[in-house]
Amino acid sequence: MFEQITLPYSVDALEPNIDALTIETHYGKHHKTYTATFNAKVEEAGLTGKTAEEILSNLDSIADPALRTAIKNNGGGYYNHNLYFELFSATPAAAPTGELAAKIDATFGSLDALKEKLTAAATGRFGSGWAWLVAKPDKSLEVVSTANQDNPYSEHMGTPLIALDVWEHAYYLKYKNLRGDYIKAFFNVLDWAKVSAKYDAI
Ligand SMILES: [Fe+2]
Repeated sequence: MFEQITLPYSVDALEPNIDALTIETHYGKHHKTYTATFNAKVEEAGLTGKTAEEILSNLDSIADPALRTAIKNNGGGYYNHNLYFELFSATPAAAPTGELAAKIDATFGSLDALKEKLTAAATGRFGSGWAWLVAKPDKSLEVVSTANQDNPYSEHMGTPLIALDVWEHAYYLKYKNLRGDYIKAFFNVLDWAKVSAKYDAI
């Protein structure tokens, strides 16, 4: 049984960057529905007991196309949002540390350059989707983007380290059409200590 993470902050803790009503709706309705549907479809497919990473990495093993699509969309919706909500903090570390900090400098030139690349991927995503920082098996870093609820496991892109949701439901209540302002706010509450720990764990 897959479960939503328990938010490691109160719903208004990320104000004014991410407002309480958006967190309540996004986590309490959208994410909740993805999670419930994913659980139902996993049971229907006989995949109970496997991890979300295993299921999303092996979608081709699901023969029925409608069931495969439902598991891709709702499994992504479950997994992507767990990572998204986990990485925020009301008192975020403003920069990565250790191995990740060195790798970002070596790969992108600087932390600001990485943020610019993520911002470009997020603003350039037409319609609904996500921008990601992923790590390859050799721990090299890459910025990628996916449509809908596709994710780095279902698209075989590597291990996700940062999940930046650019569906309108992530920002429209506060930022309306100003996706760029939301992306700036996202970085204000992204906790680089958590991102660094994820990189260390690979
Ligand atoms: Fe979302």
